[in-house]
Amino acid sequence: MNRIFSGIQPTGNLHLGNYLGAIRNWVALQKDFDCIFCIVDLHAITLPQEPAALRSSTREVAAAYIAAGVDPDHCTIFNQSTVPGHSQLAWVLGCMTPLGWLNRMTQFKEKAGKQRDMAGLGLYSYPVLMAADILLYKATHVPVGEDQKQHLELARDIAGAFNRAYGVEYFPLPEPQIFGTATRVMSLRDGTKKMSKSDPSDYSRINMTDDADTVALKIRRAKTDPLPLPDSVEGLSERPEAENLIDIYAALAGVGREAALAEFAGAQFSQFKERLADLAVSVLGPIGAEMKRLVAAPDHVDAILARGAARANAVAEPHLAEIYELVGMLRPQHAR
Ligand code: TRP
Repeated sequence: MNRIFSGIQPTGNLHLGNYLGAIRNWVALQKDFDCIFCIVDLHAITLPQEPAALRSSTREVAAAYIAAGVDPDHCTIFNQSTVPGHSQLAWVLGCMTPLGWLNRMTQFKEKAGKQRDMAGLGLYSYPVLMAADILLYKATHVPVGEDQKQHLELARDIAGAFNRAYGVEYFPLPEPQIFGTATRVMSLRDGTKKMSKSDPSDYSRINMTDDADTVALKIRRAKTDPLPLPDSVEGLSERPEAENLIDIYAALAGVGREAALAEFAGAQFSQFKERLADLAVSVLGPIGAEMKRLVAAPDHVDAILARGAARANAVAEPHLAEIYELVGMLRPQHAR
């Protein structure tokens, strides 16, 4: 059986990049895979978080999954901290992860910044916890963006190290699930930078809960260049802002770049932006409205997360018992 595991950190505004790059693609996967979609709150606290904001952001990410069309009756949706097995397996895996492997992780270097000695142990072992997330369920496929590929490689290495150490084929090596349709959405202010929740300018991103006027305004203000739109994909080279806006249009319209360009070849940005704004509002409007409705009814979201946690635990607990058995932990019957 093929199983998907993926997750998003509850650390702030969800934006168009999260939607087009991740969540939208998950919706398509739920037909063909046993899907587990997590809100990784334990990963969130590898950097300081305000408790109330963390809690509400956790509900907001759950609401985004559901509003975008991830079906909680079909998929397992839960927040990581409600399944103790993530932390428990992370310890076991951490004991077999050489520091040399972790020292290669580029994301740690970026996040730790200059004062590396001041970075927390959790930030350093972040990729081990991520490996535990995936391996706890023996997931076979992991949809991740470009920036998480190194972490997924490490998860495969750790799975291999475990299997070798105990002479078993226990963990399947998780495969990256790459989408032809996943879009790398760039900042609206700088087409060479990823759209990010941590960009100080809110005009750099379209948040999933922005209202129609805000979405239209942000698109109208988006950085462009002075030329009209080109008629071919080659014409987008060295024009990162044009490329980004065309890619966003194509993704929202569900067509390829070529088709989007065919529609707007020779057009001025002002004209194209009007159409892009209408399209963005028509796709994101209903999702944002549903997210707001769900967040305003936290009991409903919490019930879905509780159901997901029960389901996730039901898979995780027997796996963890097998892992402890392999490792040689004494498990007196009464403690099982
Ligand atoms: N590190 C991932 C990110 O920041 C989030 C994540 C945590 C994840 N655990 C995971 C993604 C397991 C895929 C599988 O995007």
